[in-house]
Amino acid sequence: MCGIFGVITNQDNISLGNVVLEGIKRLEYRGYDSCGVVSLSNSKLYIKKDSGKIEEIQKRIDLAEIPNNSKLALAHTRWATHGKPTRINSHPHSDCSNKIAVVHNGIIENFIELRKALSERGHIFKSDTDTEVIPHLIEIKMKEGLDFKESVVETLKLLTGAYALAVCHVDYPDSIIVARKESPLVIGIIEGKTTYCASDIPAFLPLTRKCYIMDDDELAILKAGEVEFINLKTNEKIEKELKTIDWSIDAAEKGGYEHFMLKEIYEEPTAMKRTMKISKDLLRIFANILWSAENIYITAAGTSFYASLAGKFIISRFLGKYIQAIECSEFQTQLFNSLKNESVIIAVSQSGETIDTIEAIRWAKSKRNVKILTITNVVGSSLTRYSDHVIVTQAGPEIGVAATKTYNTQVLTLALIAIEIAKLRKIELESEIEKYEKALEETPQIIENFLKNNVDSIKDVVNTLEKSVNFFILARGISIATAKEGGLKLKEVACRFIEGYSAAHAKHGPISLVREGFPIIFIAPPDETYQRLIGNVMEFKARGGKIISLVVENDKYISDLSNISIRIPQPGNKYYNIFSPITFTPALQLLAYYAALLHGLDPDKPLNLSKTVTVH
Ligand code: BG6
Repeated sequence: MCGIFGVITNQDNISLGNVVLEGIKRLEYRGYDSCGVVSLSNSKLYIKKDSGKIEEIQKRIDLAEIPNNSKLALAHTRWATHGKPTRINSHPHSDCSNKIAVVHNGIIENFIELRKALSERGHIFKSDTDTEVIPHLIEIKMKEGLDFKESVVETLKLLTGAYALAVCHVDYPDSIIVARKESPLVIGIIEGKTTYCASDIPAFLPLTRKCYIMDDDELAILKAGEVEFINLKTNEKIEKELKTIDWSIDAAEKGGYEHFMLKEIYEEPTAMKRTMKISKDLLRIFANILWSAENIYITAAGTSFYASLAGKFIISRFLGKYIQAIECSEFQTQLFNSLKNESVIIAVSQSGETIDTIEAIRWAKSKRNVKILTITNVVGSSLTRYSDHVIVTQAGPEIGVAATKTYNTQVLTLALIAIEIAKLRKIELESEIEKYEKALEETPQIIENFLKNNVDSIKDVVNTLEKSVNFFILARGISIATAKEGGLKLKEVACRFIEGYSAAHAKHGPISLVREGFPIIFIAPPDETYQRLIGNVMEFKARGGKIISLVVENDKYISDLSNISIRIPQPGNKYYNIFSPITFTPALQLLAYYAALLHGLDPDKPLNLSKTVTVH
């Protein structure tokens, strides 16, 4: 997830450099590993770009310093998905003639074949990015005699994937051409004077509250204070509604949500759809290595550890081998002299900077000949330097300190690997594997439906819990991982001591805490543990426990035993149950979020916590 921003004006009294720098700074929450600006003057491109956060880059080069007579500028703040966060990979990217510059947010899925064909025609590439193919394709179309707009239109037909892009051309200093497909793009306007394009409204909100929201398969030609929209499917001009935004700047950065944590929970379907596009070849590399491994470990911290617990359960089911999960901080102590040679270690870390996870991997590599498979959300993070293979989840930057969307994309990634293992091992009939694969593909939609229709039951639960300081989240099987993650969320943001625990194991001690009205949340997908779980529910109900259950839409037995049920809109069969940590956890994330609000806490700034712990 990156941020793009553009401005074109006929006003002489504005400092265009500062406008474009302030605009891209307001999008830095969308990506902050590199940044660049391009402006046009005297039929030339002026590109300034570098890696690092904007304030770091500003110390080295002044991004706002652009030619005085420039009336057009584009800017980009990057969250690397293809190619490390280096200067040469930062945007804008240009063509061979250095006449065309492009900034882009999204993923061009067919960039490898496009790049190969362009190289065979003599085009020279400077970066490792998918984006760089775009200016070169436009260059070819213009050499074939098409004008600027038609060249962009024809180029877009060659791209598969997602894009929000802005293009400028030195021979068309009065225009910016933008287009949108799956990645957000909005147009701000001061009619007759200045027009802005941006990935998100905050970029221009201090300058204008008038804006157009672009839709997929739309292109726009921006001139100073005016804009023309084209439907790319019909190639016809379209009229769009001019909206007035009444958000505050702060609310705009959160997309109108009150907190980043809530925004990021609602981003989960999109983040997961992006993650579903991870290269199958890379998933198969992970699958092959796991298939041929004797000893497999998975290690992580915090939420990533609970994602690992869920993911290892799913992989083990299809792999037929046990995977040992060890908290990263305990890895060396636990494995002291028993780490086997040729072991495979899966390291899971959203930031890729958690020192305990890095240390565990470094220790293992120093002791034995091991293979490190890393799943992280940050391209080029420290952990990746110690890894043999890396999968980058496509969650985009996560600003909320408590992990939410990154948990879902981590478990999804581990589940995608499990499906590839199933295909390799052919343990099930192909038709069976296809049913699992289809169920996994539906998980983003299941979450989207839940977030759209079932949230009220969460608030009801929060209101009933208000007076209960502590309670349990109990489960069996794979749902113990879900229960533990739910307990962590409530500890982190709601400052409640909530224990995610094995429902069966709770009979050995913890059940002694239960009094009349003591709440217990049961995670109850109808999997192979469901029948035994009914017994656990009844044990706690018999002692006065208030039963709250997370169940599938058509659940009968446990919901009948419950005081309140939260229903997850998914089919109740094995193909979906195995992925329930992905689809049930958003309910617990929201529960923690609303519990935090009830107690007057800021979910984005949990007490005593930081987004990444780089100390032992
Ligand atoms: C903690 C964060 O500091 O680190 C958690 O507050 C996170 O949200 C944990 O799950 C692990 O971080 P990472 O980046 O290694 O997944």
